[in-house]
Amino acid sequence: MANQRDTLSNPISTAPIGIFDSGVGGLTVLREIKRQLPNESILYVGDTARLPYGDRTPEEILQFVREIMTWMMAQGTKMVMMACNTSSALALEEVQAEFPIPILGLIYPGARAAAKAGQRIGVIATPATVASDAYRQAILEVDASKQVWQIGCPQFVPLIEQDRLQDATTIEVAKTYLQPLIEAEIDTLIYGCTHYPHLAPVFKTFLPDAIQRIDPAQSMVKAAAKELELLDLKSAISGRPTQFFVSGCPEQFAHNATRWLQKTPQVQQVNFASFVVS
Ligand code: DGL
Repeated sequence: MANQRDTLSNPISTAPIGIFDSGVGGLTVLREIKRQLPNESILYVGDTARLPYGDRTPEEILQFVREIMTWMMAQGTKMVMMACNTSSALALEEVQAEFPIPILGLIYPGARAAAKAGQRIGVIATPATVASDAYRQAILEVDASKQVWQIGCPQFVPLIEQDRLQDATTIEVAKTYLQPLIEAEIDTLIYGCTHYPHLAPVFKTFLPDAIQRIDPAQSMVKAAAKELELLDLKSAISGRPTQFFVSGCPEQFAHNATRWLQKTPQVQQVNFASFVVS
């Protein structure tokens, strides 16, 4: 997929970067990529037919990630950023060993940023991410003196995917999940699911401002930018518009994504399950 216009730098540098999530959560990562790496062309995958990932088994998640990675390779992506914490927690190391392009996850960048920011760290994440204990382990690896509280928040992803951010229910659900972390007097909160930064305005209504919010995407994209430089893969010319692919209903994704993209995207449907891992 190299762009023939760019003859001066590495021809692969204009190939797209792939990012994937179960749904609209990856848009919070896309926003960060647009901010830090504005020249890159992006292929966005939302595996909407199989969300929420957070309720899936580790085996299912690994299978889905392998299928998406196989599809990403067929599209000629030069790098993949997992825009999904659940996949990062449960499948990163396996697919890094199986596919010959750089693949980045969110857990270590998020853990390092949080360990730098505070001492009493709360993590909100999907049930699968919490069950993996990936954040606690990664934070303690950086600094064993940190204290970590992890809360699984199974209702957040369905509420966000159903476009119910303004519902009175959403704030009540958020208060219930966050209350134990407020009582634990955390000083730092990790958004351990890429859907959750969409809830920032809801959290702001009741969560003390003194609690620092960590969006792991900021650090992951920073690490990706460094890696692109190092490998001479950074695009020097402005990229193509982001292309969106989902496994579920394209119209529903386009409708939901419009709020965050400030325009209605063109969305294509792909059956990732047909991309069998050989
Ligand atoms: N947004 C994803 C994450 O960061 C997955 C959410 C889900 O589908 O449960 O974990």
